Amino acid sequence: MSQEVKQDLNDNVICNDSGNVPFAKVLEVNLSRRKLLKGSLAGATTAFLASSSVVAIASSGGAKVGFTPVTIAEGTGPWPSISPDYEWDVLIPWGEPLEPGGPEYNYPPNAVDQAKQIGIGHDGMHYFPVKDSSKPRCGWNDDLDWNDDLDWSRNTNRNAYRRGNRNGVLCINHEFGRTTHVLGKEAPESLEDVRTMQHAHGVSVVELKKRQGQWRQVKSDYARRIHVNTPVEFGGPAAESDLLKTPNGNIPLGTVNNCANGYTPWGTYLTCEENFNGYFGATGEWTATPEQERYGFSEGGFGYGWQNFDKRFDLSDPDYQNEENRFGWIVEIDPVDGTSNPVKRTALGRVKHEGIALTVGLGGRVVGYMGDDQRFDYIYKFVSEGNWREMRREGKSPLDHGKLYVARFNEDGSGDWLELTIDNPDLAQRFSSQEEVLIYTRIAADIVGATPMDRPEWTTVAPDGVVYCTLTNNSNRGNEGLPGADAANPLAPNADGHIIRWKDSKRFTGLTFKWDIYLIAESTHGTEDSFSDPDGLWADPDGRLFIQTDGGQMDGLNNQMLVSDTSTGDLRRLFTGVTSDEITGITTTPNRKTMFVNTQHPGNGDPTLTNFPVPFDGVTVPRDSTIVITKKDGGIVGS
Ligand code: FEO
Ligand code: CA
Ligand code: CA
Ligand code: CA
Repeated sequence: MSQEVKQDLNDNVICNDSGNVPFAKVLEVNLSRRKLLKGSLAGATTAFLASSSVVAIASSGGAKVGFTPVTIAEGTGPWPSISPDYEWDVLIPWGEPLEPGGPEYNYPPNAVDQAKQIGIGHDGMHYFPVKDSSKPRCGWNDDLDWNDDLDWSRNTNRNAYRRGNRNGVLCINHEFGRTTHVLGKEAPESLEDVRTMQHAHGVSVVELKKRQGQWRQVKSDYARRIHVNTPVEFGGPAAESDLLKTPNGNIPLGTVNNCANGYTPWGTYLTCEENFNGYFGATGEWTATPEQERYGFSEGGFGYGWQNFDKRFDLSDPDYQNEENRFGWIVEIDPVDGTSNPVKRTALGRVKHEGIALTVGLGGRVVGYMGDDQRFDYIYKFVSEGNWREMRREGKSPLDHGKLYVARFNEDGSGDWLELTIDNPDLAQRFSSQEEVLIYTRIAADIVGATPMDRPEWTTVAPDGVVYCTLTNNSNRGNEGLPGADAANPLAPNADGHIIRWKDSKRFTGLTFKWDIYLIAESTHGTEDSFSDPDGLWADPDGRLFIQTDGGQMDGLNNQMLVSDTSTGDLRRLFTGVTSDEITGITTTPNRKTMFVNTQHPGNGDPTLTNFPVPFDGVTVPRDSTIVITKKDGGIVGS
């Protein structure tokens, strides 16, 4: 099997054999996307729509998505395309130096240089506006008028807001790079090779500035790399657990497979560890424990081969027992304090975290929605114990104290958040402490009867309180011995994915919700608004939903970003990437006139497919890059 095939990171494995099928097969509906959109929104008869303000959005504005879309014919080949009403530019390709005088991009990189350069696999990211260059702070902090609102575009009366539209600190995830792409060979041949790979993963912190109408990277003191060997800490209920300690006593190091992201009202970045299992392997005798099996650990992993030179990733090395439990967390990073260690927040559970969308709920509690991206895995929610401001005043992290829930979608359009607590007798039978519940979150969720979903990817909270989640696809639904169609995952198999949405009771904090399906993706030959495999997702403050794709699109179309008007269902293609890339990561300046997205793994690293960001020459190794999107008339992106 070739390296390319082995390093298939699209989660084509099923780890959930819990057999959870919490409700019977339901409605055999002909689920055409347009029918659903028009039907559900125009009808507005269900309890969900009656109780949510989707209807309010519908009545509040005219055409929100007015741009001329990219056609399928335009959206193919080795170069991006954008709506004729928009422009794009490139920033921070993989390998750019971070610091003044830092090592210039050189292919292939070495380990020392790569630790001081932009990583590969650009994914989730967040732009933190810089408030004041003389006082290096950014993001929103307690001294800013907050209004319990995570949408800083509403804080329009501040100098900080204006400055922040031209100057910010970008925190960006580097999810992964194939070995062939990073090293130019099939497998690492030395520890040095492994270190190069490890330094290409993780997170970059980089300052951006707009000068004379052009966005540029600034090599400044903000610049920072966090990678697989950066010291990290643990916070929350499981922080001191023996299951996070190794016999060897090595300190916790690093973050890996940083997929999507979140950000907090106190101005920090959250990076989410997704397919961490793939970096571990076994060089000797090893049998997976039931816990390792549930998280998908295997002898060969995803073919990275790190275990052959770095014992930390060798599941068969008794000295490093439990090392794998140190991954699969959501990690908090201070974007402006380069001396602070990233903190893994154990209260948020250990799964293959795609991302987290954080909002502020009843009583000032922070509420986070999280997908666990694997076929038949679950959607989670965290609610902090108290008001986030008060908790921080008391010196407590709001992400260390609170309750973790998993979603059950009932067939009648209602839903329940099931608490994952050792106080539940069923969980107490399997686990001895809350620490274990959090470290083996997936197993706890199996036991309480969560609904197995079609690969939960990004979540986003719209201004009307509706939460959207992409379910990217599931070709195995309905296969023998596996769950079949249900109300929340109505297609078996689910080739192109769908987007589900819900609204929680008690302003995000309640234990019940109402849900429906926002759209079913459809990849149909010759259909202009065809798309497949929704993944990245962002609801803007005006009722637009930005949808990014990761998977095979129809008719040679590259992966893309579409914008959907949630009041009308109108869907338009704003941007398309390059051959064999993925469009992922989305963030804007406060005024939303600049948007940043990424092309990840252009050409899957193959220079015969694309050489992005250089024009096609068939030779130059393509580099993952950030794309800056602006509207020609200076308008809000998406309009
Ligand atoms: Fe990293 Fe599920 O995408
Ligand atoms: Ca993704
Ligand atoms: Ca994906
Ligand atoms: Ca990806």
